[in-house]
Amino acid sequence: MSVGIIGTGSYLPSKVLTNFDLEKIVDTSDEWIKTRTGISERRIIDDNANISDMAVEASKKALLDADLEVSDIDLIILATCSPETLMPSTSCLVQQKLGAKTIPAFDVSAGCTGLIYAITIGTQFIETGMYEKVLVIGADALSRHLDWTDRTTCVLFGDGAGAVILGKVQKGYGIISNYLAADGKGADLLKIPAGGSGLPATEDSFEKKLHCVQMSGSEVFKFATRALPRATKAALKRANLTIDDVKYIIPHQANIRILENVAKKFGVGFDKLIKNIDKYGNTSTASIAIALDELQRANKIHEGDILLLVGFGAGLTWGANVIKWVKYKKSK
Ligand code: ACO
Repeated sequence: MSVGIIGTGSYLPSKVLTNFDLEKIVDTSDEWIKTRTGISERRIIDDNANISDMAVEASKKALLDADLEVSDIDLIILATCSPETLMPSTSCLVQQKLGAKTIPAFDVSAGCTGLIYAITIGTQFIETGMYEKVLVIGADALSRHLDWTDRTTCVLFGDGAGAVILGKVQKGYGIISNYLAADGKGADLLKIPAGGSGLPATEDSFEKKLHCVQMSGSEVFKFATRALPRATKAALKRANLTIDDVKYIIPHQANIRILENVAKKFGVGFDKLIKNIDKYGNTSTASIAIALDELQRANKIHEGDILLLVGFGAGLTWGANVIKWVKYKKSK
């Protein structure tokens, strides 16, 4: 028995915010955003929706894809950088909205690497025999934590959710290696300073926009170009594979130039890297799951294909999962 992905789903809000729309909000241009980041447009969550709503939509699609009922799920793990509330966890809200009875549910906070962490955690639960089917979600609405007067951050992010269902697959297939890392020395490079117990909401914190994303863009850029290759190499080594064995690299979508840099470092064709940043911007913990779901639904993944999910994010964190894809049996 191995553990693999037996269903995928994603959800993107319908509201589109283009670079041209942003030109009317801050001192920026479509040309700058496209050439410096690769982003053309992003989705923005509806005013009356929350990340649990997006997570539920993505989860329902993943359940349908796996031909499972919500009652088949044993555990929910939700990765996010923008929890709906500090307490309770967003995963409990999702559990309730899905009608999932009393199965355990918890959130994972690992920056944009959250999905990689959550997949790794979920895999362990199945491997130990504690649970059989785990719903893993990445959902974020960082648009609600952006300073819309700060052109260095507000052009980068979009909202969305992606989900995968982990379950048993035939031996030798599925998730064949994981690699996780973190370095708290870089905690200041990317953060939302206020709103937690360290700096609760005050008039002053609102005035100073301390509930918004703050980022040292060029430092994070440099970190990303080191972290993605490091995670890739480590996870592939654990799987006893090389980059040439990989059919698709599904990286966190933060900046197209970061991905170009990674492709160059590995000497691989740019086609090997899956990209959807042009349409959605950086959807944080959701980005890898959305890209995987789109690829899967386009019937581009075949049995035996090696996929590499690789991410980096606030923390700082980075990590990767190597997967040998198997056409899962649609049975319970
Ligand atoms: N429009 C126009 N000009 C801009 C904009 C904008 N939106 N943003 C910055 N500029 C200007 C700057 O003010 C600067 O002008 P100056 O030279 O007059 O001072 C100039 O453009 C260059 O700025 P840089 O910051 O050097 O631009 P850079 O090429 O580094 O791109 C960017 C900035 C896009 C933020 C890049 O550094 C980046 O992508 N960093 C990584 C971000 C990232 O990966 N974040 C995700 C983390 S994952 C998670 O956990 C959430």
